[in-house]
Parts: sequence; structure tokens; C-alpha cells
Amino acid sequence: MSECRFLVTGCAGFIGGHMLELLLAKGFPVVGVDNFSTGKQENLAPVRGRFECIEGDLCDPAVARRAVKGATHVIHLASIPSVPRSVANPLENMHSSVTATVTLFDAAARAGVSRVVQASSSAVYGDDPALPKSEDMLPGLQAAAIMDNGAWRFEYTPKRPGVYAGVMEPEPYWEPAEDRYIIHYTKTYLAAYGDAEGWDEPTGLKTEILPLTRPFGNYAGNAFQGQVLLDGKPVPGAMVEIECYNRDGAYAAPNEYMIAQTVKADANGVFTYGVPFAGWWGFAALNGADERMLREGEPKDVELGAVLWAEFVAPAVK
Ligand SMILES: NC(=O)c1ccc[n+]([C@@H]2O[C@H](COP(=O)([O-])OP(=O)(O)OC[C@H]3O[C@@H](n4cnc5c(N)ncnc54)[C@H](O)[C@@H]3O)[C@@H](O)[C@H]2O)c1
Repeated sequence: MSECRFLVTGCAGFIGGHMLELLLAKGFPVVGVDNFSTGKQENLAPVRGRFECIEGDLCDPAVARRAVKGATHVIHLASIPSVPRSVANPLENMHSSVTATVTLFDAAARAGVSRVVQASSSAVYGDDPALPKSEDMLPGLQAAAIMDNGAWRFEYTPKRPGVYAGVMEPEPYWEPAEDRYIIHYTKTYLAAYGDAEGWDEPTGLKTEILPLTRPFGNYAGNAFQGQVLLDGKPVPGAMVEIECYNRDGAYAAPNEYMIAQTVKADANGVFTYGVPFAGWWGFAALNGADERMLREGEPKDVELGAVLWAEFVAPAVK
């Protein structure tokens, strides 16, 4: 870190001023750049004279080139950080947020800057008034019992239209009967307020079932089709086990073979299953991980499961 040289963009802004103070207090050489569109000289009062301040607009490639010269790291805070203002003035926002950022990134790449950090927006957390903001949903988990097993319940009320993917990435658990660790990445979809777009995008999990049939609003009896992905690539011939969530013990399997159904995916990792009756159905594609995990010093296999749950509903009969 001793050879780091920082560029702080938007240095005369609220966060920029504090960032300068922090970096200077740690002894780093710092350059700042700001066009003073919303930035204030008073934000720079505590650090004035202790860093080089470039006054200019990052949309200007010459300003961006001058700013990144000699920098090893860039902290990019310059923007118009107001959603209402960006809606009222989309062109101004495009200029300040998009053009300035692309110009800066281009200059940084050409100058060989090793890392650029860009501030996101607190707007991504929605309208939740809770502070501090947290991306961790674990505090929202409530202990529950499901079919006599310990489980966790999580409640979330969507605030705006959209298709929401609920994703669970568990800790690996040790399964002595199979002499291996198991990690089952599990997801389900929730469509809210009439929106039905976006369910066919991968969520980026290590392994997942990409729905090829819309994973909500399905009748019992529909065929369900999905593609098994591992590291974003199809898994040819993946084995998919399918089971109904027999919540109230309403169904009795006539024999052991009937408990889990098995379908083999084709060469593109695509499988199809005709759902025979109403309920929540779980689709689990099981893959082996390349890496092994140590248990008491001994390397053990790891099973990676891509699990998808979807509800299939019987039509209301008048
Ligand atoms: N303040 C917060 O609570 C908060 C929370 C989360 C994320 N953020 C993000 O952090 C970043 C900084 O926020 P802030 O509160 O310090 O905002 P700010 O408005 O106080 O600072 C932004 C600075 O960027 C400058 N600027 C804008 N366009 C420029 C351009 N084209 N060229 C050069 N300078 C330009 C402005 O003059 C201003 O000084 C923003 O991206 C914001 O979305 C802020």
C-alpha cells in the first residue's frame, strides 16, 4: 500500500471530502477532481493545500487523462446522486453519470491504473428506512419447524413490480452416509404486481437451474423445462431429481421408486418434466465439485446441488 497514489473524483462532494481526509490521514498522496456542479469549497476546508485539486469536468478526456496520471487507485464518487434529479433531467444525468464514468474508466485503463472503485447508490436498497443499510438478510431469518425438521423462515414484501429471485447459498454440510460435503444452492421466484419479466436470466449462482418454462403461474399438469448450469455453462446429461413438497402428508408414494422422480438432461443440460399434480415441486440437479474440502485433514468430495422450487396450481373449478 505504501506505493499507492489515489485519485478521488467528486472530491468536493459530501463523501469526497471525507475520503480525502481519510486517505491523507493515512499518508497517501492524493489527487482530487471536481467540476463543482454540486460540490462545495467548504467540504475541502479541512484538507485545503494538502492535495492537488483539479477543477474540471470528467466528460472532458483531457481532464480525465490529467486526473489519472500517476494514480494507482481511483475512487470514483463524481455523479449527480439524486434519483428525482436524474428523472427530472435525464440528459444532465447521462452526461454526469454515464459519459463522465466511461471517459474516466477509459483514461484509467490507458494509464494502467490497477483498481477503480465506484460508489453505488443507496437507492438500490429501495425505500426501506432502516439504517444502517445492510445487504445481509440473515438477521431476518426466523427459526421454524417444517415437517418435524428444524428450518428457517424468511418474509419479504416486494415494494415494487418485478420478478424476484429468492436465493439461498448455505454453508457446506457434512453427510456421513455419503462421505461427502453437500452444498445445495436453492432458489425460487416471486412475481409481484403483475410484472412477469426477467425470470429467464441466470442469477449467477455457482450452479443453478435456469428456467426455460416461466417458474410461476403454472398449472398442475404443465410441462416444466429447465437448463442445468455449472459456472454459467450447461451440464450435459445432468441428472435431475424431482420431488413434491408433501407438506401435510397428503400424498402416499405407492413404492420407493415413486418418491423422487429422475430425469436426465440432454447434451445442452436441458430437461423436461410433466408435473402430475398440484403443489410445490423441487427440481435438484446434482453435480460434483472440482475442488475437494478437508475434513479432519482428509480431502472429501463435495456435491453441488442446483435446486429450484416452483408452485403448480390446480385450476379453480366453478
Ligand atoms: N451521500 C450518501 O449517503 C450516499 C450513499 C450511497 C451512495 N452514494 C454515492 O456516492 C457518490 C458520492 O455521493 P455524495 O453524497 O458525496 O454526492 P455529492 O453530490 O456531494 O458529490 C458528488 C460530486 O461529484 C461532482 N461531480 C458531478 N459530476 C461531475 C463530473 N462530470 N466531473 C467532475 N465532478 C463531478 C459534484 O460537483 C460533487 O462535488 C455518488 O455516486 C452517490 O450516489 C452516496
